[in-house]
Amino acid sequence: MIPYRRTQLADEMVQALQGRLLLGDAHNGLFLAAPRRTGKSTFLQADLAPALRQAGVEVVYVDLWADTRRDPGTLIAEAIARALQAHLGLVARTAKKAGVKAVKLAGALDIDTSRIGQIDGLTLVDALRSLQQAADSPVALIIDEAQHALTSEAGEAAMTALKSARDQMNQPGQVSLMLVMSGSDRDKLLRLVVSAGAPFYGSQIQALPPLDTDFIAHIAHLVEAQRPDLLPVDRAALQQAFAAFGHRPQFFMAAMGAVLSPLAGHTGRFEPALLQAAQDQQAQDQAQMASEYLGLKPTEQVVLWRMLDQGPRYRPYDAEALRFYRDHLGRPVSVAQAQKALDALRQRTPALVWKSAHGEYAVEDAAMHRWFQARVAAGQWPPESPQGLLALDGD
Ligand SMILES: Nc1ncnc2c1ncn2[C@@H]1O[C@H](COP(=O)(O)OP(=O)(O)O)[C@@H](O)[C@H]1O
Ligand SMILES: [Mg+2]
Repeated sequence: MIPYRRTQLADEMVQALQGRLLLGDAHNGLFLAAPRRTGKSTFLQADLAPALRQAGVEVVYVDLWADTRRDPGTLIAEAIARALQAHLGLVARTAKKAGVKAVKLAGALDIDTSRIGQIDGLTLVDALRSLQQAADSPVALIIDEAQHALTSEAGEAAMTALKSARDQMNQPGQVSLMLVMSGSDRDKLLRLVVSAGAPFYGSQIQALPPLDTDFIAHIAHLVEAQRPDLLPVDRAALQQAFAAFGHRPQFFMAAMGAVLSPLAGHTGRFEPALLQAAQDQQAQDQAQMASEYLGLKPTEQVVLWRMLDQGPRYRPYDAEALRFYRDHLGRPVSVAQAQKALDALRQRTPALVWKSAHGEYAVEDAAMHRWFQARVAAGQWPPESPQGLLALDGD
């Protein structure tokens, strides 16, 4: 499907990034959080990047989840290198035609873009400055799933370098480097901004608003245009189903396609079938998490339980954590055993646990927190296996 465009939201952000708003601090970095699959990457690439280009800004986009086997620090350096390379090609052609004197960017012809961010290469700060000069325009660096940078030392160093580039390149009233960072998990993104040692200490994290009523109205319109027999489509029901799908357009659209299909086999209105599909999806998501949890070894279960219970306050090996493990497992857990369990949780595919370069742990998918809290509130924690059997401890 062609993405639904969110131009107004994008335009507002461009203004904020340019420092044109009276309030707000986006010119120091815009941090956007929203759950997985709610449309962050689509918005950044299909709405925000074009709006920035429209405003005469050079845009560099990098998704740190695009290839999780590669070091995030390298991915960031490469994205900047690619953009710079494109401009240096131009600079070189100008130099050939009009002579080296015409080259505005000093040293441009000697830059080796393949070594950016490496010890013997251009630093990220210099690379960004060169890009800004070669493009002769402000630069916006959009880092998607930016929290992933914190999982490696090179990624962390890149973040610190970006902050320093921002401080050097921006003056009051003159923004030359715009930074946009998105993340699927607010708590992890927070690590970039909360503690005094964090790269972007003092910045605020904003929620990227989910697609909402205008998106639903757009979809309802499309349906009505194609199927006049369904007029008027019940927008409130669509909205309710979309919310039940966790504001994830992909699942919502797939379900719409299924219930509107001539093969759907239901008679009358499609809206009730859509709501049912949304509930089924929710039940399926929850069953999936429960079965994953139940498939873990008992030590892994209590470690994950503690993490879910503590959120950002989680400390894996402090006395209270060890007491918690022992109380819920019925036998003591050593630091080494807890560590082994944490490693196993990280090494699963998909990984259940995230670890920063500083040894901080968090659940990989924030949806698990919502699932945990809902179960606790309903008095249904911990999950029990359908057979009522305890898993056998293999460690
Ligand atoms: N504006 C939109 N209009 C229609 N579909 C969208 C839109 N944004 C996202 N989607 C759908 O949702 C899926 C997930 O979006 P994505 O941007 O990858 O989410 P995120 O980056 O938050 O995980 C996309 O593959 C696309 O099918
Ligand atoms: Mg994404």
